[in-house]
Amino acid sequence: MTAGWFITFEGGEGSGKSTQAKRLAERLISAGHDVTVTREPGGSPFAERLRTLILDPHIEKHSPLAEALLFASARADHLEHVIRPALNSGRFVVCDRFSDSTRVYQGYAGRVEPRLLEALELIVVQNTKPDLTIVVDIPAEIGLARAALRLTAPPPAAPSEKIPKQPRSLLADRFEARDLEFHKKLREGFLEIARLEPQRCVVVDGQKSADDVALAVWDAVEARLLTEAG
Ligand SMILES: Nc1ncnc2c1ncn2[C@@H]1O[C@H](COP(=O)(O)OP(=O)(O)OP(=O)(O)O)[C@@H](O)[C@H]1O
Ligand SMILES: [Mg+2]
Repeated sequence: MTAGWFITFEGGEGSGKSTQAKRLAERLISAGHDVTVTREPGGSPFAERLRTLILDPHIEKHSPLAEALLFASARADHLEHVIRPALNSGRFVVCDRFSDSTRVYQGYAGRVEPRLLEALELIVVQNTKPDLTIVVDIPAEIGLARAALRLTAPPPAAPSEKIPKQPRSLLADRFEARDLEFHKKLREGFLEIARLEPQRCVVVDGQKSADDVALAVWDAVEARLLTEAG
Protein backbone atom coordinates (compact mmCIF):
# COMPACT_ATOMS: atom_id res chain seq x y z
CA MET A 1 0.00 0.00 0.00
CA THR A 2 1.42 3.40 -0.97
CA ALA A 3 0.88 6.04 1.64
CA GLY A 4 -0.12 9.46 0.35
CA TRP A 5 1.23 12.83 1.41
CA PHE A 6 -0.29 14.92 4.17
CA ILE A 7 -0.09 18.70 3.65
CA THR A 8 -1.46 21.23 6.14
CA PHE A 9 -2.05 24.98 5.85
CA GLU A 10 -1.57 27.05 8.98
CA GLY A 11 -1.52 30.74 9.88
CA GLY A 12 -3.65 33.49 11.35
CA GLU A 13 -7.14 34.64 10.40
CA GLY A 14 -7.54 35.86 6.83
CA SER A 15 -3.98 34.93 5.84
CA GLY A 16 -5.23 33.01 2.79
CA LYS A 17 -5.13 29.39 4.00
CA SER A 18 -8.48 28.35 2.54
CA THR A 19 -7.74 30.13 -0.75
CA GLN A 20 -4.39 28.37 -1.04
CA ALA A 21 -5.60 24.95 0.09
CA LYS A 22 -8.17 25.03 -2.71
CA ARG A 23 -5.64 26.23 -5.28
CA LEU A 24 -3.09 23.61 -4.32
CA ALA A 25 -5.72 20.88 -4.56
CA GLU A 26 -6.71 22.08 -8.04
CA ARG A 27 -3.11 22.07 -9.18
CA LEU A 28 -2.43 18.60 -7.77
CA ILE A 29 -5.57 17.27 -9.46
CA SER A 30 -4.47 18.83 -12.78
CA ALA A 31 -1.13 17.07 -12.35
CA GLY A 32 -3.01 13.76 -12.11
CA HIS A 33 -2.98 13.18 -8.34
CA ASP A 34 -5.90 12.02 -6.19
CA VAL A 35 -6.61 14.65 -3.58
CA THR A 36 -8.79 14.99 -0.49
CA VAL A 37 -9.31 18.58 0.67
CA THR A 38 -10.48 18.99 4.20
CA ARG A 39 -10.39 21.37 7.16
CA GLU A 40 -10.24 21.72 10.91
CA PRO A 41 -11.96 22.03 13.21
CA GLY A 42 -14.29 19.69 11.33
CA GLY A 43 -13.69 17.64 8.21
CA SER A 44 -15.94 14.67 9.10
CA PRO A 45 -19.67 14.78 9.90
CA PHE A 46 -19.15 14.36 13.67
CA ALA A 47 -16.26 16.84 13.77
CA GLU A 48 -18.28 19.39 11.75
CA ARG A 49 -20.97 19.20 14.47
CA LEU A 50 -18.28 19.94 17.04
CA ARG A 51 -16.95 22.78 14.85
CA THR A 52 -20.32 24.53 15.03
CA LEU A 53 -20.17 24.30 18.82
CA ILE A 54 -16.50 25.32 19.10
CA LEU A 55 -16.83 28.42 16.88
CA ASP A 56 -20.24 29.56 18.15
CA PRO A 57 -19.83 33.20 19.27
CA HIS A 58 -22.82 32.79 21.64
CA ILE A 59 -21.62 29.67 23.44
CA GLU A 60 -21.72 29.62 27.25
CA LYS A 61 -18.45 30.19 29.06
CA HIS A 62 -16.40 27.01 29.33
CA SER A 63 -12.87 26.19 30.41
CA PRO A 64 -9.86 26.17 28.10
CA LEU A 65 -9.39 22.50 29.04
CA ALA A 66 -12.95 21.63 28.02
CA GLU A 67 -12.35 23.40 24.72
CA ALA A 68 -9.01 21.64 24.11
CA LEU A 69 -10.71 18.28 24.65
CA LEU A 70 -13.41 19.17 22.13
CA PHE A 71 -10.76 20.00 19.53
CA ALA A 72 -9.00 16.72 20.33
CA SER A 73 -12.25 14.79 19.94
CA ALA A 74 -13.00 16.44 16.59
CA ARG A 75 -9.46 15.72 15.38
CA ALA A 76 -9.59 12.07 16.45
CA ASP A 77 -12.77 11.53 14.42
CA HIS A 78 -11.45 13.47 11.43
CA LEU A 79 -8.23 11.41 11.41
CA GLU A 80 -10.08 8.13 11.76
CA HIS A 81 -12.78 8.72 9.16
CA VAL A 82 -11.16 11.01 6.59
CA ILE A 83 -7.43 11.64 6.84
CA ARG A 84 -6.00 8.17 7.53
CA PRO A 85 -8.23 6.31 5.03
CA ALA A 86 -7.29 8.84 2.31
CA LEU A 87 -3.55 8.60 3.06
CA ASN A 88 -3.74 4.81 3.22
CA SER A 89 -5.23 4.72 -0.26
CA GLY A 90 -2.36 6.84 -1.57
CA ARG A 91 -4.19 10.18 -1.84
CA PHE A 92 -2.82 13.61 -1.11
CA VAL A 93 -4.60 15.12 1.88
CA VAL A 94 -4.69 18.94 1.94
CA CYS A 95 -5.95 20.12 5.30
CA ASP A 96 -6.91 23.73 6.11
CA ARG A 97 -5.57 24.05 9.70
CA PHE A 98 -4.42 21.12 11.85
CA SER A 99 -2.55 20.55 15.10
CA ASP A 100 -0.30 23.64 14.85
CA SER A 101 -3.45 25.76 15.18
CA THR A 102 -4.20 23.98 18.46
CA ARG A 103 -0.64 24.50 19.68
CA VAL A 104 -0.83 28.20 18.85
CA TYR A 105 -4.45 29.19 19.66
CA GLN A 106 -4.87 27.09 22.80
CA GLY A 107 -1.23 26.90 23.92
CA TYR A 108 1.07 29.70 22.76
CA ALA A 109 -1.62 32.43 22.72
CA GLY A 110 -4.17 30.63 24.89
CA ARG A 111 -4.46 29.30 28.39
CA VAL A 112 -3.81 25.57 28.09
CA GLU A 113 -0.56 24.08 29.39
CA PRO A 114 1.54 23.28 26.30
CA ARG A 115 2.53 19.98 27.95
CA LEU A 116 -1.10 18.94 28.10
CA LEU A 117 -1.55 19.80 24.43
CA GLU A 118 1.57 17.81 23.57
CA ALA A 119 0.11 14.79 25.38
CA LEU A 120 -3.21 15.13 23.54
CA GLU A 121 -1.38 15.48 20.22
CA LEU A 122 0.58 12.29 20.90
CA ILE A 123 -2.60 10.38 21.71
CA VAL A 124 -4.71 11.75 18.87
CA VAL A 125 -2.33 12.37 15.97
CA GLN A 126 -0.01 9.44 16.72
CA ASN A 127 2.18 9.03 13.65
CA THR A 128 -0.17 10.82 11.23
CA LYS A 129 1.96 13.95 11.27
CA PRO A 130 1.92 16.32 8.32
CA ASP A 131 4.65 15.70 5.73
CA LEU A 132 4.59 19.39 4.85
CA THR A 133 3.09 22.38 6.63
CA ILE A 134 2.67 25.66 4.79
CA VAL A 135 2.55 28.60 7.19
CA VAL A 136 0.86 31.51 5.44
CA ASP A 137 2.32 34.52 7.22
CA ILE A 138 0.66 37.91 7.33
CA PRO A 139 0.56 40.87 9.76
CA ALA A 140 -2.42 40.41 12.10
CA GLU A 141 -3.97 43.75 11.08
CA ILE A 142 -4.07 42.80 7.40
CA GLY A 143 -5.45 39.31 8.02
CA LEU A 144 -8.17 40.64 10.30
CA ALA A 145 -9.14 43.33 7.79
CA ARG A 146 -9.49 40.66 5.10
CA ALA A 147 -11.54 38.41 7.39
CA ALA A 148 -13.83 41.33 8.25
CA LEU A 149 -14.37 42.10 4.56
CA ARG A 150 -15.24 38.47 3.94
CA LEU A 151 -18.02 38.63 6.54
CA THR A 152 -19.94 40.84 4.15
CA ALA A 153 -19.30 38.53 1.16
CA PRO A 154 -21.35 35.42 0.21
CA PRO A 155 -20.47 32.24 2.17
CA PRO A 156 -17.57 30.21 0.75
CA ALA A 157 -18.22 26.74 -0.66
CA ALA A 158 -17.56 23.91 1.77
CA PRO A 159 -14.12 22.38 1.09
CA SER A 160 -15.38 18.87 0.46
CA GLU A 161 -18.61 17.60 -1.01
CA LYS A 162 -19.05 15.50 2.15
CA ILE A 163 -19.13 18.58 4.37
CA PRO A 164 -22.56 20.18 4.55
CA LYS A 165 -22.58 23.80 3.43
CA GLN A 166 -23.49 26.05 6.31
CA PRO A 167 -24.63 29.64 6.02
CA ARG A 168 -21.83 31.82 7.37
CA SER A 169 -23.03 34.02 10.18
CA LEU A 170 -22.44 37.72 9.76
CA LEU A 171 -20.82 37.67 13.17
CA ALA A 172 -17.13 37.01 13.65
CA ASP A 173 -16.55 33.56 15.18
CA ARG A 174 -15.17 33.26 18.72
CA PHE A 175 -11.55 33.44 17.62
CA GLU A 176 -11.90 36.16 14.98
CA ALA A 177 -13.50 38.33 17.66
CA ARG A 178 -10.41 38.31 19.95
CA ASP A 179 -8.28 41.48 20.20
CA LEU A 180 -5.34 42.48 18.04
CA GLU A 181 -2.73 41.49 20.66
CA PHE A 182 -4.07 37.93 20.60
CA HIS A 183 -3.76 37.82 16.81
CA LYS A 184 -0.21 39.21 16.91
CA LYS A 185 0.68 36.45 19.34
CA LEU A 186 -0.81 33.89 16.96
CA ARG A 187 1.46 35.08 14.20
CA GLU A 188 4.49 34.79 16.48
CA GLY A 189 3.43 31.29 17.48
CA PHE A 190 3.16 29.99 13.92
CA LEU A 191 6.54 31.51 13.01
CA GLU A 192 8.08 29.94 16.12
CA ILE A 193 6.83 26.48 15.12
CA ALA A 194 8.23 26.97 11.61
CA ARG A 195 11.57 28.01 13.11
CA LEU A 196 11.67 24.95 15.38
CA GLU A 197 10.60 22.45 12.70
CA PRO A 198 12.18 23.63 9.44
CA GLN A 199 12.16 20.12 7.96
CA ARG A 200 8.35 20.07 8.07
CA CYS A 201 7.38 23.75 7.70
CA VAL A 202 7.68 26.32 4.92
CA VAL A 203 6.68 29.94 5.54
CA VAL A 204 5.12 31.80 2.60
CA ASP A 205 4.44 35.53 2.45
CA GLY A 206 0.65 35.91 2.53
CA GLN A 207 0.84 39.58 1.57
CA LYS A 208 1.75 38.71 -2.01
CA SER A 209 -1.00 38.23 -4.59
CA ALA A 210 -2.92 34.95 -4.37
CA ASP A 211 -1.18 33.88 -7.63
CA ASP A 212 2.28 34.54 -6.20
CA VAL A 213 1.46 32.75 -2.95
CA ALA A 214 0.17 29.77 -4.95
CA LEU A 215 3.48 29.66 -6.86
CA ALA A 216 5.47 29.68 -3.60
CA VAL A 217 3.27 26.88 -2.25
CA TRP A 218 3.75 24.82 -5.41
CA ASP A 219 7.54 25.33 -5.24
CA ALA A 220 7.50 23.97 -1.69
CA VAL A 221 5.38 20.96 -2.62
CA GLU A 222 7.58 20.15 -5.61
CA ALA A 223 10.80 20.54 -3.69
CA ARG A 224 9.73 18.71 -0.54
CA LEU A 225 7.35 16.03 -1.80
CA LEU A 226 7.09 15.55 -5.54
CA THR A 227 10.84 15.41 -6.13
CA GLU A 228 11.18 13.00 -3.24
CA ALA A 229 8.29 10.88 -4.58
CA GLY A 230 10.01 10.71 -7.99
N1 LIG B 1 -3.03 36.82 -1.49
C1 LIG B 1 -4.18 37.47 -1.26
N2 LIG B 1 -4.28 38.80 -1.48
C2 LIG B 1 -5.44 39.46 -1.21
N3 LIG B 1 -6.57 38.90 -0.74
C3 LIG B 1 -6.54 37.58 -0.49
C4 LIG B 1 -5.36 36.79 -0.73
N4 LIG B 1 -5.62 35.52 -0.39
C5 LIG B 1 -6.90 35.49 0.05
N5 LIG B 1 -7.46 36.72 -0.02
C6 LIG B 1 -8.83 37.12 0.40
O1 LIG B 1 -8.75 37.33 1.81
C7 LIG B 1 -9.87 36.76 2.47
C8 LIG B 1 -9.37 35.68 3.44
O2 LIG B 1 -8.82 34.59 2.68
P1 LIG B 1 -9.02 33.08 3.18
O3 LIG B 1 -10.45 32.85 3.51
O4 LIG B 1 -8.38 32.22 2.16
O5 LIG B 1 -8.14 33.15 4.50
P2 LIG B 1 -8.06 32.10 5.69
O6 LIG B 1 -6.64 32.11 6.11
O7 LIG B 1 -8.65 30.81 5.26
O8 LIG B 1 -8.97 32.80 6.79
P3 LIG B 1 -9.62 32.12 8.12
O9 LIG B 1 -8.51 31.91 9.09
O10 LIG B 1 -10.55 33.16 8.64
O11 LIG B 1 -10.29 30.86 7.70
C9 LIG B 1 -10.77 36.21 1.36
O12 LIG B 1 -11.76 37.18 1.07
C10 LIG B 1 -9.84 36.01 0.19
O13 LIG B 1 -10.51 36.14 -1.04
MG1 LIG C 1 -10.22 29.71 6.08
